[in-house]
Amino acid sequence: MSKSKNRVFSGVQPTGNLHLGNYLGAIKRFVALQDGHECVYCVVDLHAVTMRQDPEELSDNIRNVTAAFLASGIDPQKHIVFNQSQVSQHAELAWMFNCVARMGWLNRMTQFKEKAGKNRENASVGLFSYPSLMAADILLYKADFVPVGEDQKQHLELTRDIAAKFNNDFCERIAKLGFGDSYFPMTEPLIGGPAARVMSLRDGAKKMSKSEASDMSRINLIDDPDTIAKKIRKAKTDAEPLPEEVEGLAGRAEADNLVGIFAAINDVDKAAVISEYGGKPFSEFKPALADLAVEKLAPISAKMRHLLAEPDEIDTILNEGADKAREIAVVTMREVREIFGFVGAK
Ligand code: TRP
Repeated sequence: MSKSKNRVFSGVQPTGNLHLGNYLGAIKRFVALQDGHECVYCVVDLHAVTMRQDPEELSDNIRNVTAAFLASGIDPQKHIVFNQSQVSQHAELAWMFNCVARMGWLNRMTQFKEKAGKNRENASVGLFSYPSLMAADILLYKADFVPVGEDQKQHLELTRDIAAKFNNDFCERIAKLGFGDSYFPMTEPLIGGPAARVMSLRDGAKKMSKSEASDMSRINLIDDPDTIAKKIRKAKTDAEPLPEEVEGLAGRAEADNLVGIFAAINDVDKAAVISEYGGKPFSEFKPALADLAVEKLAPISAKMRHLLAEPDEIDTILNEGADKAREIAVVTMREVREIFGFVGAK
């Protein structure tokens, strides 16, 4: 275990249009973490199929997420970018973790309850055991840090519970095989930033979401500049000017959201935005936000479109990434099999 404590892992599901929430809450942070960390970024297609997916749309979405990673500035040469289904060790370790995790733990997962809805009997078994696969993603690479949104905190806690139970159940074996007193690390989530939660442009109480009926509620990563500007101009606000102090954003969900978006795009905190725009009306703030959003997002959309015109090149990058990921994954899996006591060629 000579690896220094700096490996980052995260995943994005290929299940639809990526929007500003995915970008500011996840991808932009992935880009920043490349400095000083060894990053593994995964398009989690095995997670996507816990809900029914159209095969052709799934293929497109896998390439879309990959293109968004690359267009945003993730470097597949220095780091690892791949899709989960290509590295079979994810599914294999998830099985082992299904045998470590307890029904009671998974029964408490709020994401399952939300996604399964009223008809739980009809949810896929995969949707129920989704967190075991997520723990496998992370622990296969013994990741130290996982940048995720607030909504994934519970899954990260479960990942730690699985790691702790595994370390504890097999502690003698782990020591005997020379792995020290624990095998898996206690991975830490990285949550936060001014736009940890980007909200809908039509309703500040709801998260920006790909499944919201109105396209005006979100800025998609592939929107052109005019569309981006129009959506910001039409974003819902209250009638007051921006507050003079950042505390004045409390209870003003829409204003808070737009200020948070401005801050996150510009890599500053909300207080810095308020010190510039406090007291100003939305008729002044919105055009500034629209200009900023277009300036920062339009080059990403343009690059995405350019990459998506050459799907074979995207596939080559994913294949190369999968080869690099597998090099790490096979070692972990070989050791885990040994810890369990499975017999056979190493
Ligand atoms: N569950 C995450 C989400 O919906 C995606 C994900 C899958 C993930 N595996 C992961 C995130 C591992 C971080 C680490 O956003």
